[in-house]
Amino acid sequence: MLSAIDLLRTRRSVKPVELTGPPPNAEEIAALLTVAARVPDHGKLTPWRFIVFDGAARQAAGEAIATAFRGKYPDSAPEQVAFERNRLARAPLVVAVVSRAQPHAKIPEWEQVLSAGAAAMNLVLAAHALGYAASWITEWYAYDRAVLDALGLAAHEKIAGFVHIGRSAQAPQDRPRPALADIATWHAG
Ligand SMILES: Cc1cc2nc3c(=O)[nH]c(=O)nc-3n(C[C@H](O)[C@H](O)[C@H](O)COP(=O)(O)O)c2cc1C
Repeated sequence: MLSAIDLLRTRRSVKPVELTGPPPNAEEIAALLTVAARVPDHGKLTPWRFIVFDGAARQAAGEAIATAFRGKYPDSAPEQVAFERNRLARAPLVVAVVSRAQPHAKIPEWEQVLSAGAAAMNLVLAAHALGYAASWITEWYAYDRAVLDALGLAAHEKIAGFVHIGRSAQAPQDRPRPALADIATWHAG
């Protein structure tokens, strides 16, 4: 079993199409969401929530994506529409992390948005800690009002990410990471 620091050092995204089942069970999903909710949150506003797409619910949500796609591109080929319908069914489990940031007397909206990002990242890391792989993506439908309405998002809510979760047959190759010298300034006493 990887130590926590080695898990953080080696985590990589795995593409939704490469994620296989079986999906996390109900107890594991509860554990994932509990960790996702355990993030810094200035003002304790809980400026995020989660929508779980499990089993056939993934296809049902995909129907809304396909309908929105057809609305935008009425002449699209049936294969394209079928591809869109399958968007949320590529991985065994998808969790939408929804930002509910709103203007607040004391807490800047920016900080609420950051907290939603932290929730999404915690979800990704919790999946890895349970032996799954994950991919945090948005894609076009995260920004489509018709899709957001169908998924039940209020006007002020935004998708921080659709976190795709499943199993990965092999460890993915790493990608280049920024050199610390380019991103960190170290002020030593
Ligand atoms: C908010 C957010 C949205 C993202 N949306 C997409 C996306 O739509 N498609 C995509 O290929 N990667 C997207 N990514 C990038 C992936 O999550 C991932 O960082 C990337 O594939 C690199 O993999 P790594 O996590 O192994 O570094 C997004 C990342 C963030 C933070």
